[in-house]
Amino acid sequence: MKIILIGYMGSGKSAVGRRLAKVLSTTFIDLDTVISETVGMEIPQIFNTKGEIFFRKKEQEILQQLLEDDHSFVLATGGGTPCYGAVMEALNKTEDVVSVFLNVGVETLTNRLFPEKQHRPLISHLENKKDLNEFIRKHLFERNFYYLQAKLKVNANSQVDEVVSEIVLELF
Ligand code: S3P
Repeated sequence: MKIILIGYMGSGKSAVGRRLAKVLSTTFIDLDTVISETVGMEIPQIFNTKGEIFFRKKEQEILQQLLEDDHSFVLATGGGTPCYGAVMEALNKTEDVVSVFLNVGVETLTNRLFPEKQHRPLISHLENKKDLNEFIRKHLFERNFYYLQAKLKVNANSQVDEVVSEIVLELF
């Protein structure tokens, strides 16, 4: 089984994914890390030097390769991964894939993302919490169209262990 975690930046995809993979004794893969290693640059550097379109193409290409792989794994995608091209459709029609949306509220996302916004190319230009909150509110509204197509939707406002337990309970 391939468990694919989707959700906004700061929704806990990597932390939950790492823990979930451990609980299920399977491999954890972070899509951003694979992209970084493949291109040989950190994500902000890819955005700055090669542009977002290049990043989105790489993201889709690497995800497609992973979907064709025979192994089981837990994959943390990037916040935008399911929102471009036909990614959500591809995830939902791949037989051994369970897509899981980590649903986190705007206020929690704002508080989590504000201190680390400089590492995230899409929000690094936002100077204060109010602007960030407004950006997230609008962006999430657009992206929810894709996120809500996930097979499993989980309330992920709580601690990592609780979110993991909820996913395990829903899966088995
Ligand atoms: C992005 C989210 C990031 C990373 C890139 C673009 C997005 O991943 O893929 O900066 O479009 O939301 P995280 O969700 O892991 O921060």
